[in-house]
Amino acid sequence: MHTRFPDGFRWGTATSAYQVEGNNTASDWWLWEHEPGRIRNGDRSSLACDWWRHAERDFDLMSAMHQNAARLSVEWSRLEPHPGRWDEAAEGRYREMLRGLRDRGIEPLVTLNHFTLPQWVADRGGWLWDGIIAAFAAFTSRFVRATAPLVDFWITVNEPVGLLISAYILGQFPPGRTNPVALVRALRASVRAHAAAYRAIHDAQPAARVGVAAYLRPVQPAEPRSPLDRWLAARLDHVINWMYLDALKTGRLVGPSGLRMRVPEAVGTLDFVGVNYYTRTRIAFDLRRPGNLFARADRPYDAEMSDADYGEVFPDGLLTVLREARRYGLPLYVTENGLPDADDDLRPRFITEHLLRIARAIEDGCPVRGYYHWSLVDNFEWTDGWSLRFGLYALDPVTQVRTPRPSAGLYGEICRRNALP
Ligand code: FCB
Repeated sequence: MHTRFPDGFRWGTATSAYQVEGNNTASDWWLWEHEPGRIRNGDRSSLACDWWRHAERDFDLMSAMHQNAARLSVEWSRLEPHPGRWDEAAEGRYREMLRGLRDRGIEPLVTLNHFTLPQWVADRGGWLWDGIIAAFAAFTSRFVRATAPLVDFWITVNEPVGLLISAYILGQFPPGRTNPVALVRALRASVRAHAAAYRAIHDAQPAARVGVAAYLRPVQPAEPRSPLDRWLAARLDHVINWMYLDALKTGRLVGPSGLRMRVPEAVGTLDFVGVNYYTRTRIAFDLRRPGNLFARADRPYDAEMSDADYGEVFPDGLLTVLREARRYGLPLYVTENGLPDADDDLRPRFITEHLLRIARAIEDGCPVRGYYHWSLVDNFEWTDGWSLRFGLYALDPVTQVRTPRPSAGLYGEICRRNALP
């Protein structure tokens, strides 16, 4: 028995510009990663996977794996390194990369903001700067027009809630703040920037498909009989998973404290939902953790963990979030799914088990149209530096040598057959 996927199903891998291009010196992350203590082991992105010069080498790997799709992002800081100054050469290089994908029969899905900002935007206040909405829409409009025949499939923002919590509550991403008021303002700005970018894209390309990549994970009470655990889990489920997407449907952003903000311009600005799925969270109410919304993460004693305790392997959670995301009545794409697993002992089964859940979701009537594995090659994993290895291919960042892990062969077979072997 083979589990087959619908005709035209998109098979891809996902990357982000900062994590693979190398030397993104005009980005806010460049300054951030060079501050002492920010990145595990003092790692640096440096050349990363050297995509700025040689992305085509990895496009060849994608095509050898029979991928018909790829998710990648662009660095605003390369295209507009100074306010209002557009870099034509950078635009040309992105066009060349996108054409390189098309020439190999690979459909690009392009993310316009994957965590990073130009340093000049950060200097003006980043997501708290009043001008960011207009500036992001202007950048989007210009890039979309410049690449029009090559791309019609866009993600405005990647994991906006997780990004802004890391930046404004946990202090782990630039600008390293720990201020709930700033978080709420930044969230609202992000929704408005998304809406403005959505309109800018559709003005240029009426037939474009435009979505958001949302980090979705089941949030479950550690002790299902505890009313406090249940209450807290429901509240965090709203904030982490649905608050942002709901705002694009209702025009109301209902914040962590229950505060309601109006964002009427966001209504109807979503053509599909991108689902980034990694793991689940189990939450216990803990009075000793007011700074963490009274939440303590908990895990089952028999949880199967990926490298460095990054997360529990929990394929059923993908089925859960796909069923829940059906509430928006839009096509769904799994825009990221993967795990850090340097020796590849978990990944082959991880891939198969998650794809089985997608097949089940499709049988149940969930309109899942594609899967983008995170990631093609090991890359610079933000604050974890090079310590977490998410690639189907192992990468030595010094020599740039790529070595396939067994999973690369398996995934290639799946892409080729449009079915699980
Ligand atoms: C996601 C991010 C992506 C990468 C993976 C491992 O949350 O979108 O950039 O870091 O996790």
